[in-house]
Amino acid sequence: MNNSFSVFDCKIVKLPIVHENKGNITVLENSINTPFDTKRIYYLYDIPMDSTRGGHAHYKLEQFIIAASGSFIFTLDDGSQRRDFFLNHPDKALHIKPGIWREMREFSSGSVCLVLASKEYTESDYIRDYNDFLKFRNGK
Ligand code: TYD
Repeated sequence: MNNSFSVFDCKIVKLPIVHENKGNITVLENSINTPFDTKRIYYLYDIPMDSTRGGHAHYKLEQFIIAASGSFIFTLDDGSQRRDFFLNHPDKALHIKPGIWREMREFSSGSVCLVLASKEYTESDYIRDYNDFLKFRNGK
């Protein structure tokens, strides 16, 4: 469990691009250019444009978020400060540290949100109530 990271520890990372006339490739490899060893990959798609997702934090999980297609906004919150991150190109990733509340919105039509996660899915790693999140952040 970690309640000490701030929204300023969460950063947009520029990803490498293999440029070719026939199109680009971005390669992510554990221990080379990902911030953690990936245990799970999932992606959000067919997202209604008025959808808001997220509304939770994780005790331990770290994530690396990529707009594989289209664009969307992630709002991160560490209990005292908030930051908005606009993701709109697959050559960038947002690294979310543990213990950070997130909300996602303004998904463009056809957008795909690709997520690399540092751990397997465990519901007990979620904090889904905002008041519980504030208590966690305040060490209670
Ligand atoms: P959730 O993480 O709450 O979605 P989001 O943050 O994108 O709004 O997950 C939505 C549902 O999907 C929830 O019922 C749990 C399930 N789920 C899994 O079963 N496995 C997974 O790896 C993930 C990410 C979610």
